[in-house]
Amino acid sequence: MGSCLQPARTNHRTIEVQNERLATADATPPIGAQSEPLAAIGDFPLLQRHQDGRRLVYLDSAATAQKPRVVLDAIDDYYRRYNANVHRGVYRIAAEATERYEAARAAAAGLVGAHPKGTVFTRNATEAINLVAYSWARHELAAGDEVVLTVMEHHSNIVPWQLVCAERGARLRYVSLREDGTLDLDELDQLLASGRVRLVAVAHVSNVLGTINPVEEVVRRAHAAGALVLVDGAQAVPHMPVDVAAIGADFYAWTGHKALGPTGIGVLHAAPELLERMPPFLGGGHMIARVDLDSSTFNEPPWKFEAGTSPIAEAVGLAAAIEYLRGLGLERVREHERQLTEYALARLAELPFVRVFGPRDVSQRGGVVSFALDGVHPHDVAEICDRHAVCVRAGHHCAQPLMRALGVPATTRASLHAYNSRDDIDRLREALAAAHQLFSS
Ligand SMILES: Cc1ncc(COP(=O)(O)O)c(C=O)c1O
Repeated sequence: MGSCLQPARTNHRTIEVQNERLATADATPPIGAQSEPLAAIGDFPLLQRHQDGRRLVYLDSAATAQKPRVVLDAIDDYYRRYNANVHRGVYRIAAEATERYEAARAAAAGLVGAHPKGTVFTRNATEAINLVAYSWARHELAAGDEVVLTVMEHHSNIVPWQLVCAERGARLRYVSLREDGTLDLDELDQLLASGRVRLVAVAHVSNVLGTINPVEEVVRRAHAAGALVLVDGAQAVPHMPVDVAAIGADFYAWTGHKALGPTGIGVLHAAPELLERMPPFLGGGHMIARVDLDSSTFNEPPWKFEAGTSPIAEAVGLAAAIEYLRGLGLERVREHERQLTEYALARLAELPFVRVFGPRDVSQRGGVVSFALDGVHPHDVAEICDRHAVCVRAGHHCAQPLMRALGVPATTRASLHAYNSRDDIDRLREALAAAHQLFSS
């Protein structure tokens, strides 16, 4: 553990960044719909909280999102009214639990246009990616094969591949970034030209730069070169319409807690036939067809990959989150966050001591804004923000290779969801101005 903890505080007071300053305040969009949150903050019990007499502003949804009351109620209802294990009991509440659990699978599949039989529940996105590494890659990769990642990946989409490549004698290669924080697809083509690439694993949306990667194009190019593709959709599914069939990736992973759902549940989508051909990841109860003393046969997908008691309460909570998100409309969530990001970039551009990373074009970025303050360490920035009751994250964001590529030890990150408004961005701006003043005096 600990790899995702914040790096030790350093003496860096001046952070060298490669990105240019953003344009000036002329770019500030007029006040419009985003002065109000899209999701009523009254729906979110935690957002009623005050800190030091001020409304708490939550700008860390890329780490985990807040939960609407309907999600909390659904979980509570499961434990109070039909708590029973799934797929086992014949009594009515067990049947009800099973029905709700499988309905949650159908909801998760339906949210992204996937097939329920190709939709596996895991503990989180990390486990979904590990499932592919240990089940598919561990058996498919041979010495000399290559796996291509990008420099902007979360550790969850790097470390499993390092482990499996080391075991199989395969080689890891990386697509680097252009200066604006977008992927260099020419470099992807050059890597694919080796003819040895078996898998390309790429984030749909960067958790640091906010970059929305052209995953359909990545899939097209990778497939043409005979490689499979895994897309890490942890930062995409909660914020925009995603159609896994249109993207065409072989594997698509995401995680419930960033999608307004509970912790402890993740999702892997893959073609049922592909899952059929893959050996089990974890062994145990529930994933088997028959167990003999020396060997076993296995259940069909997706249950073949769900060993042990399932995350039942988590699935029920996730189904409620999906219903809530669909009620908001993912097109509208995306548009809300796009406009709010534009507003945030403009407001931060008014502060000459703030440098923002990632694409300037908000059509190419999600609601994640990482930045550096001249002369103030990101941890100090986050601490001052907390004094202003504004929650932002500081650290490497589980993306140390990306930090090195950016030439910084860490960044401060503000990340949005449907419950944020322009007022939240104004509160952030005020806190950043205070941090600058404190450290420059
Ligand atoms: C892009 C990306 N991938 C994967 C993950 C891992 O998600 P989880 O911790 O739920 O497995 C995260 C979490 O921050 C992420 O941002």
